[in-house]
Amino acid sequence: MYGGIKLFSGTSHPALAQEISDYLGVPLSGREIIKFPNENLFVQLHESVRGQDVFLIQTMCSPVSDNILELLIAIDCLRRDSAGRITVVVPYLAYARSDKKDQPRVPITARLLADMIQIAGADRYITVDLHAGQIQGFFSIPGDEITAFHILNEYFVQKNLEDAVIVTADLGFAKKGRNFAAKLQVPMAFVEKRRTGNDASSEVLTVIGDVEGKNVIIVDDEISTGGSIANTVRVVKEHGARDIYVSCSHPVLAPPAIERLRALPVKEIVTTNTLPIPPERMLPNIKVLSVGPLLAEVIRRVHEGRSVGELFNE
Ligand code: R5P
Repeated sequence: MYGGIKLFSGTSHPALAQEISDYLGVPLSGREIIKFPNENLFVQLHESVRGQDVFLIQTMCSPVSDNILELLIAIDCLRRDSAGRITVVVPYLAYARSDKKDQPRVPITARLLADMIQIAGADRYITVDLHAGQIQGFFSIPGDEITAFHILNEYFVQKNLEDAVIVTADLGFAKKGRNFAAKLQVPMAFVEKRRTGNDASSEVLTVIGDVEGKNVIIVDDEISTGGSIANTVRVVKEHGARDIYVSCSHPVLAPPAIERLRALPVKEIVTTNTLPIPPERMLPNIKVLSVGPLLAEVIRRVHEGRSVGELFNE
């Protein structure tokens, strides 16, 4: 239906784009992306995409607003050059926590972002572990939300920790945590936030389940400022945890995450490369697993019109 695969990348994550390109044996197509002195962005393709099946790789890391705008402008550019189909590959979708009006007079920015991607001209999207699966419904174009869960889980299967327990820092993440625990065939515990009054200092954390003397694996979707992880580590330690590991799909690592993580008694923080980690934000106990081959395989299947679910035995 469309021509061959064309791969383009924005400037956000060249290493991941290159990995996808190497896996598929499809070179990254040439383009120019520049920022003028007046801060306006400019994108130009070095070759025609007319009728082609184009995959545009851009994650939403820092500088987030620039990377989003670059994505939108690149989609527009591809559309105006008559691409046959445009699939945006966004390993990390920013603003995903702004998915409802949970206070008066606030926006739903995740919905706005989905609208902008569609209006710019994307025909499909591929993304990894959305903060909430319902965000899929903000898009009316078809898409594939894939999970890094199996990659992270397999790492811990290989580690074969004795007396392990999965802990989720957030009751909203309990179902995913339960799946993680089931695959490892280990029990689960939850950290629950309770308020005893109206001010922030009245928030107390309790552990539901047994972590005493156990190797704890805390699972979450992302580490942003590291506040949730720091609190969870502190409370499981107080309840007698032995070694502590952290697993998350998205290493956002916004300030002051690195200072917080450095100070924590955590053996290993296992994450993925949905976002690049700049060298100054890298820690010796951060282990990065690649989602590159998985994304490449999904791209291949989308191009060939084959099932993506089969990859996950769905
Ligand atoms: C919350 O709902 C998420 O699952 C993460 O726990 C949260 O985004 C982490 O944020 P931070 O690292 O800033 O505490």
